[in-house]
Amino acid sequence: MLNLTNVKLGKVRSAIRELFEYGRKRKAEIGEENVFDFSLGNPSVPAPEKVRTELLKLVGEGDPVFLHGYTSAQGDYSVRKAVADDINARFSVGLDADCIYMTCGAAASLTITLNALVNDGDEVITFAPFFPEYSVFAAHAGAKLVAVKSDPRTFAPDIAAFKEALGAKTKAVIINSPNNPSGVVYGEEVISALAAALDEHCRATGNAVYLVSDEPYRELVFDDCTKVPYIMNYYKRSIVCYSFSKSLSLPGERIGYIAVNRAMDEFSDVYAGVCGAGRALGYVCAPNLFQQLVARVLGCTSDISVYKRNRDMLCSALTEYGYEVVRPDGAFYLFVRAMEEDAEKFAERAKDYELLLVPSDSFGVKGYVRISYCVDTAMIERALPAFKKLAESYKK
Ligand SMILES: Cc1ncc(COP(=O)(O)O)c(C=O)c1O
Repeated sequence: MLNLTNVKLGKVRSAIRELFEYGRKRKAEIGEENVFDFSLGNPSVPAPEKVRTELLKLVGEGDPVFLHGYTSAQGDYSVRKAVADDINARFSVGLDADCIYMTCGAAASLTITLNALVNDGDEVITFAPFFPEYSVFAAHAGAKLVAVKSDPRTFAPDIAAFKEALGAKTKAVIINSPNNPSGVVYGEEVISALAAALDEHCRATGNAVYLVSDEPYRELVFDDCTKVPYIMNYYKRSIVCYSFSKSLSLPGERIGYIAVNRAMDEFSDVYAGVCGAGRALGYVCAPNLFQQLVARVLGCTSDISVYKRNRDMLCSALTEYGYEVVRPDGAFYLFVRAMEEDAEKFAERAKDYELLLVPSDSFGVKGYVRISYCVDTAMIERALPAFKKLAESYKK
């Protein structure tokens, strides 16, 4: 018999993909410009110019045998060294090339990390709302995903509920800041509180828990919120799952890395576990052309002023129309309270106005919709009357 869990996973599309496919059909029926598709988190601004020039240089002047060849399983040494040096320069942590494992984006970083850490029956905690694929990644690694609630006024983790959820089976905690889908950025006080709770849990029970930070949106922060705390400065047993998908607008190139904190006592076993899980999953040697590319453009970020403009426009218009919105500090998502209890019904009604919004159920909370505002500003301008009509339809 086939592995029915995977057959089912392959047959059932995620709510987000489902909506995106619906949007494609609808655009073919009524015209692209008449459908307001806020479903996908696909960056809408191009990669920085330096990405293009460095890529052309690499392809034009580089040795093709090297560029298209295998690197070592964990990535090319000079690339890993450049990544570690960049992290050290920004966050003053003592990493070296052998703390870094190059991956095919954050999805691979997370699956490798979870497979390195958990045994069958372990629990992995995260905070709702959360990126829906965490359930899939945790289950595949043999763990149960435990979702802890956040404060609905801020979407910051509920620390009291977190302490309650920590138990003998807890092996890891995944945080994601800036967050998909809420856009919230966890401040220093949140990270310190999480670290203190984990240290206390370890002291009281002897159970060591790993803090995994999923960071595809680290560079996408607005206003004065330019500092996203680096977890290695707060907690020893920490692992960063990074991706260049959003920061450099390169989601199709599949490039990112895992950084394991050198400061943890059992570092060499954890890093070996990452290498072993990468090997077992077949995630060895991330694409070398893009390994070389990212090493040359570390520190560059796509022009995020468009996302900020989109956020500001949506936040002020939706608030004016009567929507309840928590203003996001980062990423490119807005999490908005649905105007009826059932978010799926609300998202269905939104479709009557050609608005494609993702209901919050798959993010582990009820009663909200996610708006991805990594879209053309002109589409938002066209969509605003539809948002207004949708709100008005609830006032009748
Ligand atoms: C929170 C979060 N984690 C991980 C990923 C996967 O990113 P990548 O394209 O780097 O695999 C995404 C993609 O949208 C995401 O939003």
